[in-house]
Amino acid sequence: MLGGLAGILLLANACYCLPFYNGFYYDHILNNKTGNGNGEVIHFNGVKLVVNTPHDALFGYRGGNITLPCSFHYEPKIHKSERKIRVKWSKLHKDNTKERDVLAAIGLRHKSFGEYKGRVYLRQNTPNEVSLVITDLTLEDYGKYRCEVIDGLEDESGIVELELRGVVFPYQPHHGRYQLNFHDAKQSCEAQDSMLASFEQLFKAWMDGLDWCNAGWIMDGTVQYPITLPREPCGGKNMAPGVRNYGERHKNLHRYDAFCFSSALKGKVYYLEHPEKLTFKEAKAACEEDGAHIAKVGQLFAAWKFIDLDRCDAGWLDDGSVRYPIAFPRPNCGPPEPGVRSFGFPARHNKFGVFCYKMS
Ligand SMILES: *[C@@H]1O[C@H](CO)[C@@H](O)[C@H](O)[C@H]1NC(C)=O
Repeated sequence: MLGGLAGILLLANACYCLPFYNGFYYDHILNNKTGNGNGEVIHFNGVKLVVNTPHDALFGYRGGNITLPCSFHYEPKIHKSERKIRVKWSKLHKDNTKERDVLAAIGLRHKSFGEYKGRVYLRQNTPNEVSLVITDLTLEDYGKYRCEVIDGLEDESGIVELELRGVVFPYQPHHGRYQLNFHDAKQSCEAQDSMLASFEQLFKAWMDGLDWCNAGWIMDGTVQYPITLPREPCGGKNMAPGVRNYGERHKNLHRYDAFCFSSALKGKVYYLEHPEKLTFKEAKAACEEDGAHIAKVGQLFAAWKFIDLDRCDAGWLDDGSVRYPIAFPRPNCGPPEPGVRSFGFPARHNKFGVFCYKMS
């Protein structure tokens, strides 16, 4: 018994390196409850279930598939647990407290839940693998997932973080700067085939050079803006570059711009070849005639970011703004950096080209 205990302590010391361990051994209940009387106890004496998940975040993109790796083993090694393993994958809420069920499996029976129904399955290439495959990723799928393995007595889990490759863009509506409360901001992004950016997404965009001197809402209800070139009206020359944070603001009363996030596209965005320039109304109709829709802002940014859409002609978009995407900067096509250039929201009788979006 003492030898066993020493063994356990040793194991515990050796295991700070392990991905996840909640401090629970079979011995704790088995030895207390039933003494050392039956074979099962001896078999499991000091055996610990360990769940392995990767430390680094995985990256997917909208419409793609991703495998969130997860496996388990026993320490010390045993050949096979007699017990039937149950597996539960869930998604953590932003504050890491609430969870949403994604998939549950006992043996060959699997069940998926909610918006994951029909989109997820377990990958079990080895008997100890319980990885989760998510197909047709959506913008909402990013976040932390818990892989939980339950073998009757023990219940261990590991966390896998999924991020989406995408693009963050600042958004102002047609009636100008600082008009959106949090709920309007969320809706504005969604109406443009995107969603409010998370802080991680905004931070990554800032690392990639995003510089925007208007404050905007992000998903966590704070208001921030990314500055790469410190200057006078944007917090001052003497402040270090960074993502400036106004903190949490009142979601109904306070009004700012929005930072939206979009990822890859399933369909295609293109500049409509058309004999003459068009008013906003004509532009919408011209896309419909071409079997498409007028493109949304998030779609134009995604096409620029993911397939280098490059066109030095300004075109109408769904929200009434006029923009053009430049992947390969050149004279007469705006500043020397790649970007989506904006003409703002011209009066709708003005004539421009149009960007259309076709699913397929
Ligand atoms: C994702 O997986 C599904 C089902 O396994 C497959 O039909 C589809 O082609 C895959 N999509 C991509 C983009 O690989």
